[in-house]
Amino acid sequence: MAQLVTTQVLFLLVGVAAVWTARPRTELLNVCMDAKHHKEKPSPEDGLHKQCSPWKKNSCCFANTSREAHKDISYLYRFNWNHCGSMTPACKKHFIQDTCLYECSPNLGPWIQEVNQSWRKERILHVPLCKEDCEQWWQDCRTSYTCKSNWHKGWNWTSGYNQCPEGAACHPFHFYFPTSAALCSEIWSHSYKVSNYSRGSGRCIQMWFDPAQGNPNEEVARFYARAMSEATHCVLGPPLLSLALMLLWLLS
Ligand SMILES: *[C@@H]1O[C@H](CO)[C@@H](O)[C@H](O)[C@H]1NC(C)=O
Ligand SMILES: *[C@@H]1O[C@H](CO)[C@@H](O)[C@H](O)[C@H]1NC(C)=O
Ligand SMILES: *[C@@H]1O[C@H](CO)[C@@H](O)[C@H](O)[C@H]1NC(C)=O
Ligand SMILES: *[C@@H]1O[C@H](CO)[C@@H](O)[C@H](O)[C@H]1NC(C)=O
Repeated sequence: MAQLVTTQVLFLLVGVAAVWTARPRTELLNVCMDAKHHKEKPSPEDGLHKQCSPWKKNSCCFANTSREAHKDISYLYRFNWNHCGSMTPACKKHFIQDTCLYECSPNLGPWIQEVNQSWRKERILHVPLCKEDCEQWWQDCRTSYTCKSNWHKGWNWTSGYNQCPEGAACHPFHFYFPTSAALCSEIWSHSYKVSNYSRGSGRCIQMWFDPAQGNPNEEVARFYARAMSEATHCVLGPPLLSLALMLLWLLS
């Protein structure tokens, strides 16, 4: 019995800690982040381009953003995928899909965090990407080259697009990303983490999906939003926290 209560108190404390450190926004479902190209609110977009078209029914990106997402050194971020020779089309298609998910998905609310950056007010952190989507991305980039493991920082931008900084040598992807988990978590400063859940589980975000079956990420966002709001309800203020600590002390 004492053991059981101790466990519950521990859960309470963990919940409190999670809420205090993460501070998620209040609105978690059907939202767009406040970033460089996002709409204020999701809405239908009939004209979404190729790989971004799964988000047609409800999207945070405009059609022009979806077209740019398919280009090299586009006006979106002036990002050069071919910084170590040309990236193979098989590899590039994952980066396009990643851009579509980032720009268009209205289901990333549970992982939106405020940031103090010149080009955006919010980012995503630790989105649980389905393990197959991450694994396929890593496999398909085997034969492409890069010079860095964090693609958010440290480039030489003097020419108007990113080039490898001095001293960063080009190597096959696997040199900088020894595992699929390293690729998905490190490349965009932990925007993603690899989930151990599979596509179709309703517990991980799919970068790729067939819109004929609906958008599977809606259910995933609802699941994590509920889990997070339950954690919030555990915060009943410092008096209860003291009580919890006292109980923990008494029972240990
Ligand atoms: C993209 O399209 C949207 C809506 O049509 C418009 O508001 C925005 O200015 C366009 N962006 C660019 C860079 O053309
Ligand atoms: C953001 O960073 C700038 C410069 O580092 C600072 O002056 C500003 O107060 C920060 N804003 C917030 C909201 O933290
Ligand atoms: C940055 O790139 C330019 C050429 O695009 C080069 O001249 C310069 O030396 C580079 N600077 C660094 C610090 O790598
Ligand atoms: C995910 O990992 C946890 C902890 O290692 C494990 O308990 C759980 O069964 C795993 N879930 C799946 C779907 O593999």
